[in-house]
Amino acid sequence: ERLPGLLRAMPKAELHIHIEGSLEPEMIFALAQRNGVPLPYASVEELRRAYAFTDLQSFLDIYYAGASVLLHEQDFYDMARAYLARAAMDNVAHAEIFFDPQTHTARGVHIETVINGLHRACADARSSHGLSASLILCFLRHLSEEDALATLEQALPLLDRIVGVGLDSSERGHPPEKFARVFERCRALGLHVVAHAGEEGPPAYIWSALDVLQAERIDHGVQAVHDPALMRRLADERIPLTVCPLSNLKLCVFPRLADHNLLQLLEAGLAVTVNSDDPAYFGGYVNDNFTQLFAAVPALTARHAYQLAWNSFEASFAAEADKRAWH
Ligand code: ADE
Ligand code: ZN
Repeated sequence: ERLPGLLRAMPKAELHIHIEGSLEPEMIFALAQRNGVPLPYASVEELRRAYAFTDLQSFLDIYYAGASVLLHEQDFYDMARAYLARAAMDNVAHAEIFFDPQTHTARGVHIETVINGLHRACADARSSHGLSASLILCFLRHLSEEDALATLEQALPLLDRIVGVGLDSSERGHPPEKFARVFERCRALGLHVVAHAGEEGPPAYIWSALDVLQAERIDHGVQAVHDPALMRRLADERIPLTVCPLSNLKLCVFPRLADHNLLQLLEAGLAVTVNSDDPAYFGGYVNDNFTQLFAAVPALTARHAYQLAWNSFEASFAAEADKRAWH
């Protein structure tokens, strides 16, 4: 079969990866030991067995528990270093990496510790792997807008190390408009703006991510298929969707990969990309997302593969000169 080889070899950008979701169980145990943090699991195997999710919230509970082993700048560096080395093996040429500072500052870790460790790993990836990487600070939507504003305030001295902001965590009951003021502030600061919307939540959340937050990309967005007017808007304005097939499978957004609607979104003219979301938890990095989806949906061809790779660079916040070089 030539298609899996093409999917693995083609250069691509990854635009939807939560760095805390790249923390493999082995590294969780190693960092727990290094930092003296107790874990409610006896072994790597027992932790891995807990990765049986029924929806987004059942995953988030375990994901935040796993992140509790991260304390020092070196921990954040080691985590991002491991992801970037793994991404380079998948021929990722450019990565835009989400991180959740509030998960760490709530435990007393300073935001500089988080950002400096991640930023140093991104800088080193250029020399080690020829991979360009940038950071997107995500606000946790289950917390208040005041908490998000305070987090932005803490990040102000470090904004040169961040390309944009995003919105993640528990979607239902936390519509984008809850964060209208903090996103307005971020746009005024010249930051790029993205938001998770339409992962589990309704098309209305995608509308308000676009109209209220003025999101430049929608993370997930797969629920858009239920709203024809929204589908036309996303296609007409070429608003990228960062889709994560294995995540959608593991969080029961679709019962089987064969039922995934990525092809439908692509054929409707949307700027779809393929990404890993939380690869350590969902059973695969970006190439696994490509190969497993293409194996499950035989109508996906080499033409679609090229389109998806092209879209990933087009949708990125990389400098135009870099984009031209990748094209
Ligand atoms: N945080 C990490 N992964 C996430 C996802 N898939 N949706 C919302 N928040 C997240
Ligand atoms: Zn995500």
